[in-house]
Amino acid sequence: MDASHDPLAALRMEHEEIRNVLNKFEGYLKKTASAEKGEDRNNLINQLSEITAFMDKDLEIHFKREEEALFPVLGNYIGIETGPINVMIIEHNHCRDLSAAFKVKINNYLSDKDYKPLIGAGNSLSQLLSEHEDKEDNILFNMAEMHLTQDEKRNIMEKILTIK
Ligand SMILES: [Fe+2]
Ligand SMILES: [Fe+2]
Repeated sequence: MDASHDPLAALRMEHEEIRNVLNKFEGYLKKTASAEKGEDRNNLINQLSEITAFMDKDLEIHFKREEEALFPVLGNYIGIETGPINVMIIEHNHCRDLSAAFKVKINNYLSDKDYKPLIGAGNSLSQLLSEHEDKEDNILFNMAEMHLTQDEKRNIMEKILTIK
């Protein structure tokens, strides 16, 4: 099954996209911390602010594709209420909270020009999200490869394509 038919390959490709965005995000955070001119810092924070649009839209679609298409079917084999799927759902919600907190810090910066809280919040989000996608790639999706039938994969892929 290629990525257009295999839901796990498709979700792994979305992880690559998320990693690319996170690399940029972390780069902007570092430069914000070391910027010497307020004007440079403002520009960097504008870039960071643009990335929050990706978190609100694309990342949210990715989470929903896992939560609504993959997890319910994989949950028939490994459970949903406890175990790895439960941990993944908790981490999605934690990422959503951290992303909301990051946006608040950006707004605060616009009035008080204190950039440190924004960098702390951004780093927490980036670290959690990157560890989360690693766990899915290395553990959860391997479990899914072991359990899911071809039919189940086909149904999950169909469902994924309806979530956008
Ligand atoms: Fe996830
Ligand atoms: Fe994921």
